[in-house]
Amino acid sequence: MKIIVTGGAGFIGGNFVHYMVEKYPEDMIINLDALTYAGNLETLKPVENKPNYKFIKGDIADREFIFKLFEDEKPDVIVNFAAESHVDRSITDPEIFVRTNVMGTTTLLDACKQFGIKRFHQVSTDEVYGDLPLDRPDLFFTEETPLHTSSPYSSSKASADLFVMAYHRTFGIPVSISRCSNNYGPYQFPEKLIPLMISRALADEELPVYGNGANVRDWLHVKDHCQAIDLIVRKGADGCVYNIGGHNERTNLEVVKTVLRALDKPESLIKYVTDRPGHDRRYAIDPKKLETELGWKPEFNFDTGMKQTIQWYLENREWWEHIISGEYSNYFEKMYGDKL
Ligand code: NAD
Ligand code: DAU
Repeated sequence: MKIIVTGGAGFIGGNFVHYMVEKYPEDMIINLDALTYAGNLETLKPVENKPNYKFIKGDIADREFIFKLFEDEKPDVIVNFAAESHVDRSITDPEIFVRTNVMGTTTLLDACKQFGIKRFHQVSTDEVYGDLPLDRPDLFFTEETPLHTSSPYSSSKASADLFVMAYHRTFGIPVSISRCSNNYGPYQFPEKLIPLMISRALADEELPVYGNGANVRDWLHVKDHCQAIDLIVRKGADGCVYNIGGHNERTNLEVVKTVLRALDKPESLIKYVTDRPGHDRRYAIDPKKLETELGWKPEFNFDTGMKQTIQWYLENREWWEHIISGEYSNYFEKMYGDKL
């Protein structure tokens, strides 16, 4: 099989490329990535010389380029990770989220319609369901939960999901969608909660916790997400949505304290800052469909996953220090300058 992985120089796409190149030496994995601020070819070093791997630089919203790529490569499968993925950036600059997440996805779907495809898989998010109240721990997101978005980011992802389903119903494109909870693990860009807190704690810098730190996220190790997508692409039913999550709910404060304890740093580093506008309160995934229909089970629990992840950031300082010393430092100043 020839598989185009879009956004394969980012966090989850990069981990997925590693996983697929190792697991399926007989398949060809093409990594298509525009190399935005979030794309990093350093992440692909372990696979760059493998015979079943190829990198192509390009933009999923560039119609001419995408159509030519499909004509040349004739892919069997597309797994679409490429996206603007950070909620805070979507609040300061929503437009690029519409271009990449919505128009990029429809451009890929149009190419699938024109050239044919065995499966188009859309990597979506639990954020399309909105949030749950903090005082109802009995509630979970299922595949039937209505879409009800909060941020420009989640609205762009929900729009993309609707287009994917519309292309399935109207044009008969074979599709699947996965909606996963918060990921953590190696190669995550240090603008996201866990790597941000690890990198700042190591430098004895203040840790910005939004609001009172009581918001809840449902954490899943990135490798478990990759395994689930692989399973859905190969065995999932056509036209179906699958939720992915491992029942690892934690408040943000619990996560930050876990990082501090693991690094032997004091809780006095925590600084409560102005809340994120429209901040979703709680995410919690019910993964029953994926478990019962496809037999998926996560390998990591939060404790073992966090230990492995923190160890990875300790052993791969060069990877993230390179990022935080570059253009990212301007972003940090813009977003947090008046908060810290
Ligand atoms: P990321 O920001 O780390 O990586 C995104 C990648 O997409 C980057 O390599 C970037 O260069 C590339 N990209 C951006 N615009 C592009 C374009 N126009 N054309 C081609 N490439 C482009 O993101 P991530 O955290 O790895 O998330 C990957 C996907 O998974 C996203 O679709 C996101 O919505 C979804 N998701 C993320 C999480 C999470 O916790 N991070 C959870 C569930 C779902
Ligand atoms: O749920 C899946 C989603 O998870 C993905 O679709 C998104 O792409 C991904 O970015 C993530 O979104 P979140 O907004 O949940 O992740 P983030 O790491 O930005 O924030 C996690 C929580 O931590 C959230 O409640 C906000 C809080 N936070 C975040 C940052 C960056 C802080 O308190 N301080 C911070 O500095």
